Amino acid sequence: MTFKLLSAAAVITGVMLISSAPTIWAGPVKTDKGALVAGEGAEFDPDEGKWFLESGAPTYHVQDNGKIDFLTYRGFQRYHSECHVCHGPEGVGSTYAPALTDSLKTMSYEDFVAVVASGRIVHQPGGADSVMPALGDNKNVMCYLDGIYVYLKGRSDEVIPRGRPKGKESKPKALGEAEDVCFEG
Ligand code: HEC
Repeated sequence: MTFKLLSAAAVITGVMLISSAPTIWAGPVKTDKGALVAGEGAEFDPDEGKWFLESGAPTYHVQDNGKIDFLTYRGFQRYHSECHVCHGPEGVGSTYAPALTDSLKTMSYEDFVAVVASGRIVHQPGGADSVMPALGDNKNVMCYLDGIYVYLKGRSDEVIPRGRPKGKESKPKALGEAEDVCFEG
């Protein structure tokens, strides 16, 4: 089991203990360099190659020329290989599964990770179940889940338009290494 999978498990335990109050959609925040991020106190962590908010959640980082950080680009790619068959292109939803662009207006990062890792079954009137599969053992999902989250958060905050991103930053070395460790571990 990799560190990444373990840390997702730790998050799930936390979520079960603390019943999380829904947060009100706050929308994006502009940094003093003019980039858009998902909340207060965004800083780049060179050891992980990701941007984080002071809350500890990862965030997208979109420059004023529209260029996105590599983690967000990675999320765009992985969302469209692992999630879009059910949740629709670019997170807009389908008749079968909810629009994640709506979900992330109120859902916390921790709750997002918990639902993806553990799945969820909701029994519908009439017998058909609504099933979100548990993907916690799927490295193609879990090794990239922060990227999928920040991409969808950027879509939800209306910072990232539909379609293929126009420009991206180069891949931080630390991010590539962490992906390799997650996959091989
Ligand atoms: C096989 C279809 C399927 C796939 C693949 C799938 N989902 Fe889901 N997902 C669902 C369904 C159906 C629900 C609604 C479950 C319910 O009724 O609560 C759901 C619910 C969710 C929710 C909770 C939304 C909310 O508003 O409460 C999140 C978050 C989520 N999925 C994320 C993902 C991510 C991220 C991926 C890709 C890594 C993914 N899902 C892949 C079918 C799928």
